[in-house]
Amino acid sequence: DSKIPHIFVTFGASGDLARKKIYPTLWWLFRDNLLPMQTKFFGYARSKLSKDGLRELCHPYMKVRPGETEKYEEFWRLNHYVAGSYETRRDFEMLNQEIIKEEQQQMANRVFYLALPPSVFQPVTVNIRNVCMSQKGWTRIIIEKPFGKDAQSSKELTDHLAQLFHEEQIFRIDHYLGKEMVQNLMTIRFGNRIFSPTWNRENVASVLITFKEPFGTQGRGGYFDEFGIIRDVMQNHLLQILSLVAMEKPVTCHPDDIRDEKVKVLKCIKELELKDMVLGQYIRNPNGTTEDAKQGYLDDPTVPDDSITPTYALAVLNINNERWDGVPFILRCGKALNERKAEVRIQYQDVPGDIFEGHTKRNELVIRVQPGEALYVKMMTKSPGITFDMEETELDLTYGHRYKDSYLPDAYERLILDVFCGSLMHFVRSDELSEAWRIFTPVLHKIERERVKPIPYIYGSRGPAEADKKCEENNFKYYGSYKWHQSNKL
Ligand code: BG6
Repeated sequence: DSKIPHIFVTFGASGDLARKKIYPTLWWLFRDNLLPMQTKFFGYARSKLSKDGLRELCHPYMKVRPGETEKYEEFWRLNHYVAGSYETRRDFEMLNQEIIKEEQQQMANRVFYLALPPSVFQPVTVNIRNVCMSQKGWTRIIIEKPFGKDAQSSKELTDHLAQLFHEEQIFRIDHYLGKEMVQNLMTIRFGNRIFSPTWNRENVASVLITFKEPFGTQGRGGYFDEFGIIRDVMQNHLLQILSLVAMEKPVTCHPDDIRDEKVKVLKCIKELELKDMVLGQYIRNPNGTTEDAKQGYLDDPTVPDDSITPTYALAVLNINNERWDGVPFILRCGKALNERKAEVRIQYQDVPGDIFEGHTKRNELVIRVQPGEALYVKMMTKSPGITFDMEETELDLTYGHRYKDSYLPDAYERLILDVFCGSLMHFVRSDELSEAWRIFTPVLHKIERERVKPIPYIYGSRGPAEADKKCEENNFKYYGSYKWHQSNKL
């Protein structure tokens, strides 16, 4: 495809996502010569902007390094901006005319990125379908969550899209699927002999998948309050990780074989119930050292005073199949916590027939997604020297040590490149999405209907203590004795 012209259109070009993520990503891909040779970029939004105005909006996020200015100028020369409404067909015809001028009567492929609020989603997709499709090349559509708010609204969206495009044209982004260690799960599991024989209920006690962020809603309160942490992080990012950890081995590495397995394992999970959850909402930290920390969730002016939206959630899921029945899969995520971290922790069962007077601690395989990609196994070893004491240690693959000089691209770089290549492996298929909503919808409705009050936790803390208790009840043991060796820290 490298000689064929490509047109990349960003709808919502002046918005937050476009400025902070999409334009920078396009620039980095262009800078590194990773895009097809003849790629042109169009921004489209309601704002009456010029191309230079757009450039100014994006500039703080582009990270242009010394020596790159010429290339940077070249990037912007390939850019266009069109202002128009999202509803009017006429405006899309104008956009199409502008695109045609750039295609110079050649066969060209088109990518449309919808960085838009859900409210204009329908008219935009209809207008693309009616007036902006590539005539001789392919057309692909990238969309971002929210993919609806529950099973019903998500189905409506899926049905709407299915009337306009084929499934292979729709790229639903879950940017966690673009992260190095999430992409590595397949290799770790299926490219090694040592893990697979123990990857089951006979050996694994529990699986804990964690997402923590050390800041609050940061001005996104308006959006967040409508969705909450369960829809914002758990139903998508964490459940995607769960399905890659728990699925059976796909027949091949073909995207549909992989996605078939992900759907299958989700089908084995029953609808989540409130009794298997802990919900929290952060409150101000009176001793906080930053302004943000002194703001509780309800202090955000864009959040209603009586909001019951959770900013922290823990959920225990059971996978009802031969491999996993009885092994709790604990998902937990929260904002305004003590640290930034995303990881998968597979905790093994106690060693049977103990001869060490209860001194052994459980093995864990930890896959740290961020910060500082790492894979390590916590294990027992004899303390070195003239002693038969034992201690916890680790087999450690920390990327910053082992792969010092490798460049790990941002999730969005990988995913946008995948769209150009037509690789759907790291995108969410509609049946996967529908299974995800099936699991979460009843409990989301119950929380909203019964106005279930979240437990308050202090900004910067570990979250509600009830969550730790829930982990303990679900066969996850926390010893507090393990010390990550200081020199391993980056
Ligand atoms: C987004 C959520 O999908 O993921 C945000 O909407 C969250 O609330 C973000 O902050 C986290 O992404 P990352 O890549 O910074 O871990």
